[in-house]
Amino acid sequence: MDQSRYDYDIVKSFVHWSILWGVVAVLVGVLISFQLVLPELNITQYFTYGRLRPLHTNAGIFGWGIGSFFALFFYMVQRLCRRPLWSPGLAKFQLWFFNATIIAAAVTLLLGFSQSKEYHELEWPVDIMVVILWVIFSINIIMTVIKREEEHMYISLWFMMASLIGVAVLYLVNSAVIPVSLFKSYSAFAGTNDAHVQWWYGHNAVAMVLTAPPLAVFYYFLPKATNVPIYSHRLSIIAFWSLIFMYLWTGAHHLLWTPVPDWVQTLAMAFSIMLIAPSWGSVFNGYLSMNGQWHQMRDNYLVKFLILGITFYGLQTLQGPSQAVRTFSAFVHYTEWVPGHVHMGTMGWVSMVLFAAIYYVVPKMYGRELYSIPLANMHFWLVLIGQLIFSVSLWIAGLQQASMWHSIGADGSLTYTFMEVLVEMYPYYWARAVAGLIYLSGVGLFVYNLYKTANNKQALTSTAAQAA
Ligand code: HEM
Ligand code: HEM
Repeated sequence: MDQSRYDYDIVKSFVHWSILWGVVAVLVGVLISFQLVLPELNITQYFTYGRLRPLHTNAGIFGWGIGSFFALFFYMVQRLCRRPLWSPGLAKFQLWFFNATIIAAAVTLLLGFSQSKEYHELEWPVDIMVVILWVIFSINIIMTVIKREEEHMYISLWFMMASLIGVAVLYLVNSAVIPVSLFKSYSAFAGTNDAHVQWWYGHNAVAMVLTAPPLAVFYYFLPKATNVPIYSHRLSIIAFWSLIFMYLWTGAHHLLWTPVPDWVQTLAMAFSIMLIAPSWGSVFNGYLSMNGQWHQMRDNYLVKFLILGITFYGLQTLQGPSQAVRTFSAFVHYTEWVPGHVHMGTMGWVSMVLFAAIYYVVPKMYGRELYSIPLANMHFWLVLIGQLIFSVSLWIAGLQQASMWHSIGADGSLTYTFMEVLVEMYPYYWARAVAGLIYLSGVGLFVYNLYKTANNKQALTSTAAQAA
Protein backbone atom coordinates (compact mmCIF):
# COMPACT_ATOMS: atom_id res chain seq x y z
CA MET A 1 0.00 0.00 0.00
CA ASP A 2 1.00 3.64 -0.46
CA GLN A 3 3.20 4.23 2.64
CA SER A 4 2.16 7.88 2.86
CA ARG A 5 -1.33 6.80 3.96
CA TYR A 6 0.09 5.69 7.31
CA ASP A 7 -0.43 8.20 10.11
CA TYR A 8 2.91 8.60 11.86
CA ASP A 9 2.22 11.95 13.55
CA ILE A 10 0.13 10.33 16.24
CA VAL A 11 2.77 7.63 16.78
CA LYS A 12 5.45 10.30 17.16
CA SER A 13 3.39 12.25 19.68
CA PHE A 14 2.69 9.18 21.81
CA VAL A 15 6.36 8.23 21.70
CA HIS A 16 7.35 11.73 22.94
CA TRP A 17 4.89 11.65 25.81
CA SER A 18 5.51 8.08 26.87
CA ILE A 19 9.24 8.80 27.06
CA LEU A 20 8.54 11.86 29.18
CA TRP A 21 6.42 9.79 31.61
CA GLY A 22 9.04 7.05 31.51
CA VAL A 23 11.71 9.52 32.62
CA VAL A 24 9.39 10.72 35.42
CA ALA A 25 8.82 7.09 36.52
CA VAL A 26 12.52 6.29 36.66
CA LEU A 27 13.41 9.60 38.36
CA VAL A 28 10.77 9.02 41.04
CA GLY A 29 11.95 5.38 41.33
CA VAL A 30 15.46 6.62 42.05
CA LEU A 31 14.16 9.21 44.51
CA ILE A 32 12.12 6.67 46.51
CA SER A 33 15.10 4.30 46.51
CA PHE A 34 17.13 7.04 48.19
CA GLN A 35 14.28 7.87 50.57
CA LEU A 36 14.51 4.33 51.93
CA VAL A 37 18.11 4.94 53.03
CA LEU A 38 17.96 8.68 53.68
CA PRO A 39 14.60 9.32 55.38
CA GLU A 40 15.31 13.07 55.54
CA LEU A 41 14.50 13.12 51.80
CA ASN A 42 10.82 12.76 52.74
CA ILE A 43 10.14 16.50 52.45
CA THR A 44 6.56 17.72 52.98
CA GLN A 45 3.61 15.34 53.12
CA TYR A 46 3.19 15.55 49.32
CA PHE A 47 6.58 14.04 48.58
CA THR A 48 6.74 11.31 51.18
CA TYR A 49 7.56 7.74 50.19
CA GLY A 50 3.94 6.67 50.72
CA ARG A 51 2.68 9.10 48.08
CA LEU A 52 5.60 8.91 45.66
CA ARG A 53 5.59 5.11 45.47
CA PRO A 54 2.17 4.86 43.76
CA LEU A 55 3.19 7.80 41.56
CA HIS A 56 6.21 5.74 40.52
CA THR A 57 4.22 2.58 39.79
CA ASN A 58 1.47 4.45 37.93
CA ALA A 59 3.91 6.52 35.88
CA GLY A 60 5.90 3.35 35.09
CA ILE A 61 3.02 1.06 34.15
CA PHE A 62 0.48 3.52 32.76
CA GLY A 63 2.61 6.44 31.56
CA TRP A 64 5.68 4.67 30.16
CA GLY A 65 4.22 1.18 29.56
CA ILE A 66 0.74 1.91 28.26
CA GLY A 67 1.80 5.22 26.64
CA SER A 68 4.38 3.34 24.56
CA PHE A 69 1.87 0.62 23.74
CA PHE A 70 -0.53 3.29 22.44
CA ALA A 71 2.24 4.51 20.13
CA LEU A 72 3.40 1.08 19.01
CA PHE A 73 -0.08 -0.40 18.61
CA PHE A 74 -0.94 2.54 16.33
CA TYR A 75 2.26 1.90 14.39
CA MET A 76 1.83 -1.88 14.13
CA VAL A 77 -1.91 -1.98 13.46
CA GLN A 78 -1.62 0.21 10.37
CA ARG A 79 1.18 -1.86 8.90
CA LEU A 80 -0.27 -5.25 9.83
CA CYS A 81 -3.69 -4.29 8.44
CA ARG A 82 -2.20 -2.40 5.47
CA ARG A 83 -4.50 0.57 6.01
CA PRO A 84 -4.50 3.87 7.86
CA LEU A 85 -6.03 4.22 11.31
CA TRP A 86 -9.81 4.01 11.40
CA SER A 87 -10.05 7.42 13.06
CA PRO A 88 -7.00 9.73 13.28
CA GLY A 89 -9.23 12.36 14.95
CA LEU A 90 -10.12 10.00 17.78
CA ALA A 91 -6.45 9.12 18.19
CA LYS A 92 -5.59 12.82 18.54
CA PHE A 93 -8.25 13.28 21.17
CA GLN A 94 -6.89 10.19 22.92
CA LEU A 95 -3.42 11.74 23.10
CA TRP A 96 -4.61 14.79 24.98
CA PHE A 97 -6.99 12.82 27.14
CA PHE A 98 -4.14 10.44 27.99
CA ASN A 99 -1.96 13.27 29.24
CA ALA A 100 -4.87 14.83 31.12
CA THR A 101 -5.50 11.47 32.81
CA ILE A 102 -1.87 10.98 33.80
CA ILE A 103 -1.71 14.51 35.20
CA ALA A 104 -4.97 14.00 37.12
CA ALA A 105 -3.56 10.72 38.45
CA ALA A 106 -0.29 12.32 39.53
CA VAL A 107 -1.96 15.28 41.25
CA THR A 108 -4.55 13.20 43.12
CA LEU A 109 -1.95 10.66 44.25
CA LEU A 110 0.34 13.40 45.58
CA LEU A 111 -2.63 14.95 47.41
CA GLY A 112 -3.16 11.59 49.09
CA PHE A 113 -6.36 10.42 47.37
CA SER A 114 -6.22 6.67 46.89
CA GLN A 115 -8.44 3.59 46.79
CA SER A 116 -5.54 1.81 48.56
CA LYS A 117 -5.57 -1.04 46.03
CA GLU A 118 -2.24 -1.71 44.38
CA TYR A 119 -2.17 -0.67 40.68
CA HIS A 120 -5.74 0.53 41.15
CA GLU A 121 -5.10 3.48 43.44
CA LEU A 122 -6.87 6.12 41.37
CA GLU A 123 -10.12 7.42 42.85
CA TRP A 124 -13.36 7.03 40.95
CA PRO A 125 -13.38 10.28 38.84
CA VAL A 126 -9.91 9.43 37.49
CA ASP A 127 -11.05 5.81 37.08
CA ILE A 128 -13.77 7.03 34.75
CA MET A 129 -11.18 8.94 32.72
CA VAL A 130 -9.14 5.73 32.39
CA VAL A 131 -12.21 3.86 31.14
CA ILE A 132 -13.02 6.54 28.52
CA LEU A 133 -9.40 6.48 27.38
CA TRP A 134 -9.37 2.72 26.98
CA VAL A 135 -12.73 2.60 25.18
CA ILE A 136 -11.72 5.12 22.52
CA PHE A 137 -8.36 3.42 22.04
CA SER A 138 -10.00 -0.01 21.71
CA ILE A 139 -12.62 1.20 19.26
CA ASN A 140 -9.94 2.70 17.02
CA ILE A 141 -7.76 -0.41 17.00
CA ILE A 142 -10.64 -2.90 16.67
CA MET A 143 -12.26 -0.94 13.82
CA THR A 144 -8.91 -0.74 12.02
CA VAL A 145 -8.57 -4.52 12.37
CA ILE A 146 -12.14 -5.15 11.20
CA LYS A 147 -11.63 -2.97 8.12
CA ARG A 148 -8.16 -4.37 7.38
CA GLU A 149 -6.90 -4.84 3.84
CA GLU A 150 -4.70 -7.81 4.77
CA GLU A 151 -6.56 -11.06 5.35
CA HIS A 152 -3.97 -12.80 7.53
CA MET A 153 -3.92 -11.78 11.20
CA TYR A 154 -0.32 -11.81 12.40
CA ILE A 155 0.26 -12.96 15.99
CA SER A 156 0.90 -9.40 17.24
CA LEU A 157 -2.70 -8.49 16.38
CA TRP A 158 -3.98 -11.38 18.55
CA PHE A 159 -1.96 -10.21 21.55
CA MET A 160 -3.13 -6.62 20.98
CA MET A 161 -6.80 -7.62 20.85
CA ALA A 162 -6.44 -9.76 23.99
CA SER A 163 -4.93 -6.83 25.84
CA LEU A 164 -7.74 -4.47 24.77
CA ILE A 165 -10.51 -6.82 25.87
CA GLY A 166 -8.68 -8.12 28.95
CA VAL A 167 -7.86 -4.72 30.43
CA ALA A 168 -11.44 -3.52 29.83
CA VAL A 169 -12.99 -6.46 31.71
CA LEU A 170 -10.50 -6.40 34.59
CA TYR A 171 -10.59 -2.67 35.09
CA LEU A 172 -14.38 -2.42 35.02
CA VAL A 173 -14.91 -5.24 37.54
CA ASN A 174 -12.28 -3.98 39.98
CA SER A 175 -13.60 -0.41 39.62
CA ALA A 176 -16.97 -1.31 41.14
CA VAL A 177 -17.12 1.17 44.04
CA ILE A 178 -19.63 3.23 45.94
CA PRO A 179 -18.56 6.89 45.90
CA VAL A 180 -19.20 8.83 49.12
CA SER A 181 -17.61 12.10 47.99
CA LEU A 182 -15.68 13.47 45.03
CA PHE A 183 -12.47 11.76 46.10
CA LYS A 184 -13.57 8.97 48.40
CA SER A 185 -15.19 5.68 47.53
CA TYR A 186 -15.61 2.22 49.04
CA SER A 187 -15.29 -1.06 47.20
CA ALA A 188 -18.50 -2.79 46.18
CA PHE A 189 -16.95 -6.08 47.33
CA ALA A 190 -16.35 -7.01 50.94
CA GLY A 191 -13.66 -8.89 52.88
CA THR A 192 -11.89 -11.74 51.14
CA ASN A 193 -14.01 -11.23 48.02
CA ASP A 194 -12.56 -7.74 47.73
CA ALA A 195 -9.02 -9.07 48.13
CA HIS A 196 -9.69 -11.79 45.61
CA VAL A 197 -11.14 -9.46 42.97
CA GLN A 198 -8.25 -7.04 43.55
CA TRP A 199 -5.56 -9.67 42.93
CA TRP A 200 -7.47 -11.26 40.08
CA TYR A 201 -7.20 -7.75 38.61
CA GLY A 202 -3.63 -7.20 39.86
CA HIS A 203 -2.13 -10.32 38.40
CA ASN A 204 -3.99 -9.99 35.15
CA ALA A 205 -2.74 -6.43 34.86
CA VAL A 206 0.63 -8.19 34.70
CA ALA A 207 -0.84 -10.45 31.99
CA MET A 208 -2.70 -7.89 29.90
CA VAL A 209 -0.36 -4.90 30.32
CA LEU A 210 3.10 -6.28 31.12
CA THR A 211 2.94 -9.51 29.09
CA ALA A 212 0.53 -9.49 26.12
CA PRO A 213 1.45 -6.02 24.72
CA PRO A 214 5.24 -6.48 25.01
CA LEU A 215 4.81 -9.90 23.36
CA ALA A 216 2.90 -8.19 20.51
CA VAL A 217 5.80 -5.75 20.21
CA PHE A 218 8.43 -8.51 20.43
CA TYR A 219 6.80 -10.65 17.74
CA TYR A 220 6.58 -7.65 15.42
CA PHE A 221 9.98 -6.07 15.96
CA LEU A 222 12.23 -9.14 16.23
CA PRO A 223 11.68 -10.12 12.57
CA LYS A 224 11.96 -6.43 11.60
CA ALA A 225 15.28 -6.12 13.42
CA THR A 226 16.79 -9.39 12.13
CA ASN A 227 15.18 -9.37 8.67
CA VAL A 228 14.23 -13.01 9.21
CA PRO A 229 10.65 -14.24 9.88
CA ILE A 230 9.66 -15.73 13.24
CA TYR A 231 10.38 -19.43 13.63
CA SER A 232 6.76 -20.61 13.84
CA HIS A 233 3.49 -18.75 13.51
CA ARG A 234 1.63 -21.88 14.59
CA LEU A 235 3.64 -22.12 17.82
CA SER A 236 2.94 -18.46 18.55
CA ILE A 237 -0.82 -19.00 18.15
CA ILE A 238 -0.80 -22.09 20.39
CA ALA A 239 1.24 -20.21 23.00
CA PHE A 240 -1.16 -17.27 22.73
CA TRP A 241 -4.40 -19.21 23.35
CA SER A 242 -2.95 -21.30 26.17
CA LEU A 243 -1.46 -18.20 27.83
CA ILE A 244 -4.77 -16.34 27.66
CA PHE A 245 -6.67 -19.34 29.02
CA MET A 246 -4.29 -19.98 31.93
CA TYR A 247 -3.54 -16.46 33.16
CA LEU A 248 -7.06 -15.72 34.32
CA TRP A 249 -6.97 -18.38 37.07
CA THR A 250 -3.76 -17.37 38.80
CA GLY A 251 -4.59 -14.16 40.73
CA ALA A 252 -4.97 -15.91 44.08
CA HIS A 253 -1.25 -16.78 44.13
CA HIS A 254 -0.92 -13.29 45.66
CA LEU A 255 -3.15 -14.46 48.50
CA LEU A 256 -1.55 -17.73 49.58
CA TRP A 257 -1.93 -18.40 53.33
CA THR A 258 -4.84 -15.95 53.58
CA PRO A 259 -8.53 -16.60 54.38
CA VAL A 260 -9.26 -17.02 50.65
CA PRO A 261 -10.56 -20.65 50.32
CA ASP A 262 -7.80 -23.24 50.14
CA TRP A 263 -9.03 -24.73 46.86
CA VAL A 264 -8.88 -21.30 45.20
CA GLN A 265 -5.25 -20.94 46.31
CA THR A 266 -4.39 -24.44 45.06
CA LEU A 267 -6.05 -23.74 41.71
CA ALA A 268 -4.01 -20.54 41.36
CA MET A 269 -0.84 -22.41 42.29
CA ALA A 270 -1.48 -25.16 39.72
CA PHE A 271 -2.32 -22.75 36.91
CA SER A 272 0.74 -20.63 37.72
CA ILE A 273 2.98 -23.65 37.22
CA MET A 274 1.18 -24.60 34.02
CA LEU A 275 1.86 -21.06 32.76
CA ILE A 276 5.51 -21.95 32.26
CA ALA A 277 4.59 -23.83 29.07
CA PRO A 278 2.89 -21.05 27.07
CA SER A 279 5.33 -18.46 28.37
CA TRP A 280 8.29 -20.51 27.21
CA GLY A 281 6.47 -21.23 23.94
CA SER A 282 7.11 -17.58 23.07
CA VAL A 283 10.62 -17.61 24.54
CA PHE A 284 11.58 -20.64 22.41
CA ASN A 285 9.94 -19.09 19.37
CA GLY A 286 12.14 -16.03 19.88
CA TYR A 287 15.31 -18.07 20.37
CA LEU A 288 14.58 -20.40 17.44
CA SER A 289 13.94 -17.37 15.22
CA MET A 290 17.60 -16.55 15.83
CA ASN A 291 18.75 -19.84 14.23
CA GLY A 292 21.73 -18.94 12.07
CA GLN A 293 21.40 -15.31 13.17
CA TRP A 294 23.14 -15.34 16.54
CA HIS A 295 26.01 -13.27 15.13
CA GLN A 296 23.51 -10.38 15.11
CA MET A 297 23.78 -10.31 18.92
CA ARG A 298 27.24 -8.88 18.35
CA ASP A 299 26.53 -6.23 15.77
CA ASN A 300 22.81 -5.40 15.88
CA TYR A 301 21.91 -3.28 18.89
CA LEU A 302 18.16 -3.84 18.38
CA VAL A 303 18.62 -7.60 18.59
CA LYS A 304 20.56 -7.24 21.85
CA PHE A 305 17.68 -5.39 23.50
CA LEU A 306 15.07 -7.81 22.13
CA ILE A 307 16.87 -11.05 22.99
CA LEU A 308 17.87 -9.87 26.47
CA GLY A 309 14.27 -8.73 26.90
CA ILE A 310 12.81 -12.13 26.02
CA THR A 311 15.46 -13.80 28.20
CA PHE A 312 14.31 -11.76 31.20
CA TYR A 313 10.74 -12.72 30.31
CA GLY A 314 11.81 -16.38 30.33
CA LEU A 315 13.51 -16.02 33.73
CA GLN A 316 10.57 -14.04 35.08
CA THR A 317 8.14 -16.78 34.06
CA LEU A 318 10.22 -19.42 35.87
CA GLN A 319 10.69 -17.33 38.99
CA GLY A 320 7.01 -16.30 39.11
CA PRO A 321 5.62 -19.85 39.19
CA SER A 322 8.13 -20.84 41.89
CA GLN A 323 6.90 -17.92 44.04
CA ALA A 324 3.38 -19.21 43.51
CA VAL A 325 4.19 -22.48 45.30
CA ARG A 326 2.87 -22.33 48.88
CA THR A 327 6.04 -23.42 50.64
CA PHE A 328 8.33 -21.05 48.74
CA SER A 329 5.78 -18.24 49.05
CA ALA A 330 5.76 -18.72 52.84
CA PHE A 331 9.46 -17.85 52.73
CA VAL A 332 9.70 -14.98 50.25
CA HIS A 333 6.29 -13.28 50.47
CA TYR A 334 6.51 -9.76 52.00
CA THR A 335 10.29 -9.69 51.48
CA GLU A 336 12.54 -7.66 49.16
CA TRP A 337 12.62 -10.70 46.85
CA VAL A 338 9.33 -9.58 45.29
CA PRO A 339 10.43 -6.08 44.12
CA GLY A 340 13.50 -7.91 42.69
CA HIS A 341 11.11 -10.09 40.65
CA VAL A 342 9.02 -7.09 39.62
CA HIS A 343 11.95 -5.08 38.28
CA MET A 344 13.45 -7.92 36.26
CA GLY A 345 10.08 -7.79 34.49
CA THR A 346 9.60 -4.04 34.26
CA MET A 347 13.18 -2.76 33.82
CA GLY A 348 14.34 -5.90 32.02
CA TRP A 349 11.62 -7.50 29.92
CA VAL A 350 9.10 -4.67 29.29
CA SER A 351 11.50 -1.72 29.04
CA MET A 352 14.16 -3.53 26.98
CA VAL A 353 11.57 -4.49 24.36
CA LEU A 354 10.16 -0.94 24.36
CA PHE A 355 13.63 0.60 23.95
CA ALA A 356 14.24 -1.62 20.89
CA ALA A 357 10.87 -0.85 19.30
CA ILE A 358 11.25 2.90 19.84
CA TYR A 359 14.81 2.82 18.45
CA TYR A 360 13.35 1.10 15.40
CA VAL A 361 10.37 3.38 14.76
CA VAL A 362 11.86 6.81 15.50
CA PRO A 363 14.53 6.82 12.73
CA LYS A 364 11.97 5.31 10.33
CA MET A 365 9.32 7.91 11.08
CA TYR A 366 11.75 10.81 10.86
CA GLY A 367 13.42 9.32 7.78
CA ARG A 368 16.87 9.45 9.37
CA GLU A 369 19.57 7.07 10.56
CA LEU A 370 19.91 6.68 14.32
CA TYR A 371 22.22 9.46 15.54
CA SER A 372 24.68 7.14 17.31
CA ILE A 373 24.84 3.35 17.47
CA PRO A 374 27.73 3.42 20.02
CA LEU A 375 25.49 5.48 22.34
CA ALA A 376 22.68 2.94 21.87
CA ASN A 377 25.12 0.16 22.78
CA MET A 378 26.22 2.08 25.87
CA HIS A 379 22.55 2.57 26.78
CA PHE A 380 22.10 -1.20 26.49
CA TRP A 381 24.97 -1.98 28.87
CA LEU A 382 23.96 0.66 31.41
CA VAL A 383 20.35 -0.53 31.68
CA LEU A 384 21.45 -4.17 31.73
CA ILE A 385 23.98 -3.59 34.51
CA GLY A 386 21.60 -1.32 36.46
CA GLN A 387 18.80 -3.85 36.24
CA LEU A 388 21.01 -6.80 37.24
CA ILE A 389 22.42 -5.00 40.29
CA PHE A 390 18.87 -3.97 41.24
CA SER A 391 17.32 -7.43 41.01
CA VAL A 392 20.21 -9.57 42.26
CA SER A 393 20.82 -7.41 45.33
CA LEU A 394 17.11 -7.52 46.23
CA TRP A 395 16.92 -11.30 45.79
CA ILE A 396 19.83 -11.72 48.20
CA ALA A 397 18.22 -9.14 50.53
CA GLY A 398 14.93 -11.05 50.39
CA LEU A 399 16.53 -14.38 51.28
CA GLN A 400 18.44 -12.85 54.19
CA GLN A 401 15.35 -11.01 55.40
CA ALA A 402 13.24 -14.20 55.21
CA SER A 403 15.86 -16.24 57.08
CA MET A 404 16.13 -13.63 59.83
CA TRP A 405 12.35 -13.32 60.21
CA HIS A 406 12.02 -17.11 60.46
CA SER A 407 14.86 -17.57 62.92
CA ILE A 408 13.50 -18.75 66.29
CA GLY A 409 15.36 -19.35 69.55
CA ALA A 410 15.08 -22.49 71.74
CA ASP A 411 12.24 -20.91 73.74
CA GLY A 412 10.26 -20.14 70.57
CA SER A 413 10.92 -16.40 70.59
CA LEU A 414 12.11 -14.51 67.52
CA THR A 415 15.90 -14.20 67.27
CA TYR A 416 15.80 -10.79 65.58
CA THR A 417 13.55 -7.79 66.08
CA PHE A 418 11.96 -6.11 63.07
CA MET A 419 14.39 -3.18 63.44
CA GLU A 420 17.43 -5.44 63.47
CA VAL A 421 16.33 -7.01 60.20
CA LEU A 422 15.62 -3.60 58.68
CA VAL A 423 19.09 -2.32 59.53
CA GLU A 424 20.57 -5.35 57.74
CA MET A 425 18.72 -4.29 54.59
CA TYR A 426 20.50 -0.93 54.28
CA PRO A 427 23.46 -2.10 52.14
CA TYR A 428 21.02 -3.67 49.67
CA TYR A 429 18.91 -0.51 49.59
CA TRP A 430 22.06 1.47 48.78
CA ALA A 431 22.89 -0.99 46.01
CA ARG A 432 19.40 -0.53 44.55
CA ALA A 433 19.71 3.27 44.68
CA VAL A 434 23.06 3.17 42.86
CA ALA A 435 21.65 0.64 40.37
CA GLY A 436 18.80 3.09 39.79
CA LEU A 437 21.27 5.87 38.98
CA ILE A 438 23.08 3.62 36.49
CA TYR A 439 19.78 2.72 34.84
CA LEU A 440 18.75 6.38 34.79
CA SER A 441 21.97 7.37 33.03
CA GLY A 442 21.20 4.72 30.38
CA VAL A 443 17.74 6.20 29.92
CA GLY A 444 19.37 9.65 29.61
CA LEU A 445 21.49 8.40 26.69
CA PHE A 446 18.37 6.93 25.08
CA VAL A 447 16.56 10.27 25.22
CA TYR A 448 19.61 12.20 23.97
CA ASN A 449 20.16 9.79 21.07
CA LEU A 450 16.53 10.04 19.98
CA TYR A 451 16.51 13.81 20.32
CA LYS A 452 19.60 14.10 18.14
CA THR A 453 18.10 11.64 15.64
CA ALA A 454 14.89 13.63 15.33
CA ASN A 455 16.84 16.88 14.89
CA ASN A 456 19.61 15.57 12.66
CA LYS A 457 18.69 17.43 9.48
CA GLN A 458 21.69 16.12 7.52
CA ALA A 459 21.37 12.36 7.74
CA LEU A 460 18.29 11.62 5.68
CA THR A 461 18.05 7.92 4.81
CA SER A 462 16.71 6.30 1.70
CA THR A 463 13.60 5.53 3.73
CA ALA A 464 12.81 9.22 4.04
CA ALA A 465 10.22 9.17 1.32
CA GLN A 466 8.62 6.05 2.69
CA ALA A 467 8.38 7.55 6.16
CA ALA A 468 7.17 10.96 5.12
C1 HEM B 1 4.35 -17.26 34.62
C2 HEM B 1 4.35 -15.99 34.88
C3 HEM B 1 4.37 -15.39 36.26
C4 HEM B 1 3.96 -15.89 37.45
C5 HEM B 1 3.32 -17.24 37.73
C6 HEM B 1 4.19 -14.86 38.45
C7 HEM B 1 3.95 -15.02 39.79
C8 HEM B 1 4.04 -14.04 40.74
C9 HEM B 1 3.75 -14.19 42.14
C10 HEM B 1 3.37 -15.50 42.82
C11 HEM B 1 3.88 -12.98 42.72
C12 HEM B 1 3.60 -12.62 44.18
C13 HEM B 1 4.81 -12.66 45.00
C14 HEM B 1 4.47 -12.37 46.45
O1 HEM B 1 3.97 -11.28 46.76
O2 HEM B 1 4.71 -13.27 47.25
C15 HEM B 1 4.25 -12.04 41.68
C16 HEM B 1 4.42 -10.68 41.85
C17 HEM B 1 4.54 -9.80 40.80
N1 HEM B 1 4.85 -10.10 39.49
FE1 HEM B 1 4.98 -11.96 38.71
N2 HEM B 1 4.74 -13.76 37.86
C18 HEM B 1 4.85 -14.03 36.52
C19 HEM B 1 5.35 -13.20 35.53
C20 HEM B 1 5.48 -11.84 35.69
C21 HEM B 1 5.82 -10.93 34.62
C22 HEM B 1 6.12 -11.29 33.16
C23 HEM B 1 5.80 -9.69 35.16
C24 HEM B 1 6.11 -8.44 34.37
C25 HEM B 1 6.64 -7.40 34.80
C26 HEM B 1 5.45 -9.81 36.57
C27 HEM B 1 5.24 -8.78 37.46
C28 HEM B 1 4.89 -8.93 38.78
C29 HEM B 1 4.56 -7.82 39.64
C30 HEM B 1 4.47 -6.34 39.23
C31 HEM B 1 4.35 -8.36 40.92
C32 HEM B 1 4.13 -7.59 42.22
C33 HEM B 1 2.73 -7.54 42.62
C34 HEM B 1 2.64 -6.82 43.96
O3 HEM B 1 2.57 -5.60 43.94
O4 HEM B 1 2.65 -7.49 45.01
N3 HEM B 1 5.30 -11.15 36.86
N4 HEM B 1 4.36 -12.71 40.48
C1 HEM C 1 15.77 3.14 37.83
C2 HEM C 1 14.65 2.51 37.72
C3 HEM C 1 13.75 2.17 38.88
C4 HEM C 1 13.94 2.31 40.23
C5 HEM C 1 15.13 2.87 40.95
C6 HEM C 1 12.75 1.81 40.89
C7 HEM C 1 12.54 1.79 42.27
C8 HEM C 1 11.46 1.27 42.91
C9 HEM C 1 11.25 1.21 44.34
C10 HEM C 1 12.23 1.74 45.37
C11 HEM C 1 10.06 0.60 44.56
C12 HEM C 1 9.43 0.31 45.92
C13 HEM C 1 9.80 -1.06 46.37
C14 HEM C 1 9.15 -1.45 47.67
O1 HEM C 1 7.97 -1.24 47.85
O2 HEM C 1 9.83 -2.02 48.54
C15 HEM C 1 9.51 0.26 43.29
C16 HEM C 1 8.32 -0.42 43.11
C17 HEM C 1 7.79 -0.71 41.87
N1 HEM C 1 8.26 -0.29 40.64
FE1 HEM C 1 10.06 0.53 40.28
N2 HEM C 1 11.89 1.37 39.92
C18 HEM C 1 12.45 1.60 38.68
C19 HEM C 1 11.88 1.34 37.44
C20 HEM C 1 10.59 0.89 37.25
C21 HEM C 1 9.92 0.80 35.99
C22 HEM C 1 10.51 1.24 34.64
C23 HEM C 1 8.67 0.29 36.24
C24 HEM C 1 7.54 -0.02 35.29
C25 HEM C 1 7.58 -0.04 34.00
C26 HEM C 1 8.58 0.04 37.67
C27 HEM C 1 7.50 -0.53 38.32
C28 HEM C 1 7.40 -0.76 39.68
C29 HEM C 1 6.36 -1.55 40.30
C30 HEM C 1 5.23 -2.27 39.59
C31 HEM C 1 6.61 -1.53 41.69
C32 HEM C 1 5.80 -2.22 42.80
C33 HEM C 1 6.58 -3.45 43.24
C34 HEM C 1 5.97 -4.28 44.34
O3 HEM C 1 4.95 -3.93 44.90
O4 HEM C 1 6.57 -5.33 44.68
N3 HEM C 1 9.75 0.43 38.26
N4 HEM C 1 10.36 0.69 42.28
